[in-house]
Amino acid sequence: MNVLEMKNVRKDFGSLEVLRGVDLSVSEGEIVSVIGPSGSGKSTLLRLATLLERMDFGSLSYEGIAAAYEDEGGRSVYASLKTLKDLKSIYGLVFQSFHLFPHWNVLQNVTDAVIHVQKRPRAEAEERGRELLSRMGLLEKAGSYPCELSGGQQQRVAIARALALRPKLLFFDEPTSALDPEMSGEVLKLILSLRELKIAMVIVTHEMGFAREISDRILFMAEGSVLLSGPPEEVFRSENERMKSFLSRVQSF
Ligand SMILES: Nc1ncnc2c1ncn2[C@@H]1O[C@H](COP(=O)(O)OP(=O)(O)OP(=O)(O)O)[C@@H](O)[C@H]1O
Ligand SMILES: [Mg+2]
Repeated sequence: MNVLEMKNVRKDFGSLEVLRGVDLSVSEGEIVSVIGPSGSGKSTLLRLATLLERMDFGSLSYEGIAAAYEDEGGRSVYASLKTLKDLKSIYGLVFQSFHLFPHWNVLQNVTDAVIHVQKRPRAEAEERGRELLSRMGLLEKAGSYPCELSGGQQQRVAIARALALRPKLLFFDEPTSALDPEMSGEVLKLILSLRELKIAMVIVTHEMGFAREISDRILFMAEGSVLLSGPPEEVFRSENERMKSFLSRVQSF
């Protein structure tokens, strides 16, 4: 059974068709990168998958449980708020900017949802929090506040916070685009090291070398559709004209 399954997903913003029938399935432990030009609908796809926004048409399920199914006309019908809330515990999210709570220290940021949403005992949450911070190379920063950290360190805290909830699937939306090249390299290395955790990941990224290295599969999107989907070597060598022109533009930076 797939961890995530999205089918025939369509989304409009007013007269703008942002997604035009997208399918995305992710199996257990699979790492999928989503690439494509700006405005192609990558972030929208992630926002729909993570229930931050609602699809117009199509279905969405986690581990076989429907968050939304298609009615006879293909329109999305969402499950109850209770079901949606339960499904949210299956995945975690890491965005471009880190959204840490400024008035809480690093350890509090990592453990808060474990204690208050998952209702785990504080001692257990803190032990796991320290373990994760140590994996991130940030144990000595446990008592520091977000404003005392570099951007790369803040993003590593955000990743630890997502992992603390033991997700089956982690979504990343351009996790390094707010960072300078050196910090971005650090964070990419860290994400690569998460492969051994066997957590499924969906990663929207403009870092082509990273996408090629980390992914089991790459999805190339343009204008709201998935044009290519396959193993990295196949997608990067594709003769598809849109893909070739996209690659020539990103690689010229
Ligand atoms: N809330 C919204 N209201 C109106 N239009 C939106 C909204 N969110 C996204 N769009 C539009 O949908 C299209 C796709 O946006 P999206 O953010 O998904 O692209 P993207 O592929 O993530 O681009 P980028 O690589 O620049 O992050 C864009 O034309 C965008 O302007
Ligand atoms: Mg985006």
